[in-house]
Formats: sequence, structure tokens, C-alpha cells
Amino acid sequence: MAQSAPTRPRPASYSLAQIVLHWSIAALVAWQLFFSDHPPRIQPGSAQLSVWARTWESSHVWLGLAVLGLVVIRIVLRLAVGAPSPVETNRLQATAAQVVHFLFYALLVFMPVTGILAWYFGLPTGDLHELGQPAFIALIVAHVAAALWHQFVQRDGLIRRMVVPAQ
Ligand code: HEM
Ligand code: HEM
Repeated sequence: MAQSAPTRPRPASYSLAQIVLHWSIAALVAWQLFFSDHPPRIQPGSAQLSVWARTWESSHVWLGLAVLGLVVIRIVLRLAVGAPSPVETNRLQATAAQVVHFLFYALLVFMPVTGILAWYFGLPTGDLHELGQPAFIALIVAHVAAALWHQFVQRDGLIRRMVVPAQ
């Protein structure tokens, strides 16, 4: 009789590298989302901006490229190390968490890629890039609300898995 392939044991928590990546990417993304449309508003190819404006502008580009690099490492790690099993919860919550996490990874790639195409190649992806902002904010609100719900209503210690690494 054919034997099913052995399944990889799930870690009890995220690894230190996964935790460091989660929080550094979260901080960078928060900066990118909330400090991009402050004056001076970034404009592709604007030559006559002040030094301050150009520094602001290039920080958006470099930090965005850093997000892309870190996300690639994070996805590779996720595929290699996996993630802990979903906490005890109902099927709807588990599916919602999977969908939100998947959409996060998709947006974490989509934002830098549409930014790069607009910035370096002058393609008309700037509007799509800007549409990513409300989508990202909606996901963050849902994600943080779910984390707080688990922590303080279900009291299942979910946040600890993204703070204390697996041994
Ligand atoms: C996770 C990464 C990123 C996030 C969350 C993000 C977020 C944003 C946001 C919220 C805006 C709107 C600012 C406004 O309304 O004025 C914006 C604009 C812009 N970003 Fe990004 N960005 C990211 C990465 C990048 C990268 C890597 C580049 C280029 C290499 C880039 C280039 C641009 C450009 C050119 C605009 C102006 C688009 C336009 O007005 O048509 N972004 N970004
Ligand atoms: C821009 C901000 C954020 C992004 C992009 C983000 C993204 C993600 C992603 C993609 C995962 C899934 C990890 C995986 O299984 O591979 C995750 C997990 C997690 N995040 Fe966030 N996150 C953000 C902010 C936060 C904040 C502010 C909190 C705290 C309230 C938080 C708490 C958690 C926890 C506890 C998990 C583990 C969930 C589980 O084990 O099922 N995240 N996050």
C-alpha cells in the first residue's frame, strides 16, 4: 500500500529571523504608508525639488526597495521553515487569517514592483501603486484587530508567537 509522504512537523512559534523580519517590515511599511504623502509630495522625475524634498523622495524609494529585499528573504524562509499551526479557533477564523496573510505577502511584493515600474521605467503604474495604500491600511486594521481579539478576548497568547522565538 502506498504510504503518504511524511508531513514536516510544525514549529511551536515563529523563528527569530521570521520575527525580526515581521517587525522590521511592519515598521518600514508603516513609514511608507503614512509618511509618503506629506509635503513635499513625491513626483517622478521632478528635477527642481529642494534638497530636503529630494532626500524625502529618495528615502521612499530606498526604503521601498529594502521592503522588497526583506520580503523575498521572508518568503523563502516561510517556505523553508513553515509557520506554527493555527491557534485553536474555528474554521472561519483560520481561513480569514490565511487569506489576510496571503494578501499581505501579495501587497508586499505588489507595492514595490508597481513603484519600481513607475519610478524607473515611467510606466503608468503610479495610480495602482497609490490604490495599494487604502488596501494595505484595511488589511492592517483587520490584522491588528484580529491579533488583539486573540490576545484579550480569546486569551490564547497569539501575539507571543510573533514575539518569542521557537526554541
Ligand atoms: C512597501 C513598499 C511601498 C509602499 C507601502 C509605498 C507606498 C506609497 C504611497 C502610500 C504612495 C502615495 C503617496 C502620495 O499619495 O503622494 C506612494 C507613492 C509613490 N511611490 Fe511608493 N511605496 C512603496 C515602495 C515604493 C518603491 C520601491 C518605489 C520606487 C522604486 C516607489 C515609488 C513611488 C512613486 C513613484 C510614487 C508616486 C506615484 C504617483 O504619484 O503616481 N514606492 N507610495
Ligand atoms: C504593516 C504591518 C504588518 C504586516 C505587513 C504584517 C504581516 C504579517 C504576516 C504576513 C503574517 C503571517 C506570517 C506567516 O505565517 O508567514 C503575520 C503574522 C502575525 N502578525 Fe503581523 N503584520 C503587521 C503588523 C502587525 C502588528 C501591528 C501586530 C500586533 C498587533 C501583528 C501581529 C502578528 C501576529 C501575532 C502574527 C502571528 C499570527 C499567527 O501565528 O497566526 N502584526 N503578520
